[in-house]
Amino acid sequence: MERLFKPRSVAVIGASRNPEKIGHKILRNILEFGFRGKVYPINPKADEILGLKSYSSILDVPGDVDLAVIAVPAPIVPKVLEEVGKKGVPFAAIISSGFKEVGNEELEQEIVEIGRKYGVRILGPNIFGILYSPSRLNATFGPKDVKDGGIALISQSGALGISLMGWTQTREIGLSAVVSVGNKADIEDEDLIEFLGRDPNTRVIVIYLEGIRDGRRFMEAVRKSEKPIVVIKAGKTREGSRAASSHTGALAGEYRVFKGILRQVGALEAKNLEEAFDMARALDFLDPARKPVLVITNGGGIGVLATDALSERGIPLVRNGLEKFRRVIPPFGSWRNPIDLTGQAKVEDYLSALELARDSDAWILLLYCETAVTDPMELAREIERAGIKPIVSMVGGERTQEALRYLNGKRIPAYPTPERAVAGIYALYRGVRFGAKGNP
Ligand code: ACO
Repeated sequence: MERLFKPRSVAVIGASRNPEKIGHKILRNILEFGFRGKVYPINPKADEILGLKSYSSILDVPGDVDLAVIAVPAPIVPKVLEEVGKKGVPFAAIISSGFKEVGNEELEQEIVEIGRKYGVRILGPNIFGILYSPSRLNATFGPKDVKDGGIALISQSGALGISLMGWTQTREIGLSAVVSVGNKADIEDEDLIEFLGRDPNTRVIVIYLEGIRDGRRFMEAVRKSEKPIVVIKAGKTREGSRAASSHTGALAGEYRVFKGILRQVGALEAKNLEEAFDMARALDFLDPARKPVLVITNGGGIGVLATDALSERGIPLVRNGLEKFRRVIPPFGSWRNPIDLTGQAKVEDYLSALELARDSDAWILLLYCETAVTDPMELAREIERAGIKPIVSMVGGERTQEALRYLNGKRIPAYPTPERAVAGIYALYRGVRFGAKGNP
């Protein structure tokens, strides 16, 4: 898989002259994201595209090619794939739709056989492409940029994956990789987990999954992964499963069985996209550990909500050694975890409490409700300066949103509600078995 993620050269077959077309957009993204290897547009009708010499066929390219991105209509994919095979290219990412997902099983089988004949591994078909930030490779027709980070996303849904590229960017979520797997005619999730599970640039893998072909192989790959894995399973209901089958031709399978598989291999299941990235954000910024939680808050209600959420997820609260917090609590506050600094809490009070918590072997959940007494941005800056990494939840208006963005930009996981912060803590608490295997 190394060459798929770190190709030295990429050919775009179907690199259109028309800026509106997919093949053109992929070529542009490759160039604009800053890919440092060689790039070859292939188009029999063009001499030059985006300032690069264009070739009629991949067979005319002078050097070796590691990755061929194919964006021509499905009926001509077999012909160009034959040429890719003859050229000795190890990987083809087939963007084109019109295969198994629309009942065209034969055409899909044909490309699988061509791939086998020449030893070309196929990603797709029916995909939006592949992005790997460390090699500045954006061979997708999604946004031209994503924020760098440690989250790798594998998506069976094209539109969803492509939209998540922009969605993550506006939420300070950094990505190491985005891979669209589409119909999974050849390369499966397991192949990608094997690479990303050992990739030093990836800290957590998020998978949007409709179905898997080989449960045993999937379990094996997840078990071996050194990085935590968060799965969003779609097609859980009978109706959803029917929708999955007409979407990517996937067999969604019995959800109960799948849930059991995830539990057995220690993968985290997220209820939805938001929860998946809430979990992934925490795992990207912090190393997992099975530690109880110390809650510091300026609001009683938000503290109770957090306590409920922790308790529902089976995460314990710190119960010993709390007397020391009496020093920083007004007489009408509570030092019995949640440590309630009360609504009059100033930035200094939070800092004093954080300082007392510094050496405790616990996750610190810092909660804040916006008040006129404490400016959220000032609090965010001081939290960062303190050099302690709590999990933060701030509830409030525009300034609070700014503070959340600031903290996430500094790799301190920060969330707009206590329940979402607890989802992050849950991932850190449960992701521990991977940490033991060398999470960086
Ligand atoms: N080798 C190289 N290039 C060729 C060849 C060939 N043998 N034959 C033709 N071309 C060129 C064409 O001349 C054209 O270039 P031009 O515009 O400069 O003339 C270019 O390849 C593209 O060919 P078109 O026939 O114009 O095809 P078009 O761009 O309209 O569509 C595509 C191709 C995008 C692959 C389409 O068939 C398709 O499958 N679209 C769906 C893609 C998709 O959605 N995938 C799933 C993604 S996930 C999601 O849902 C977001």
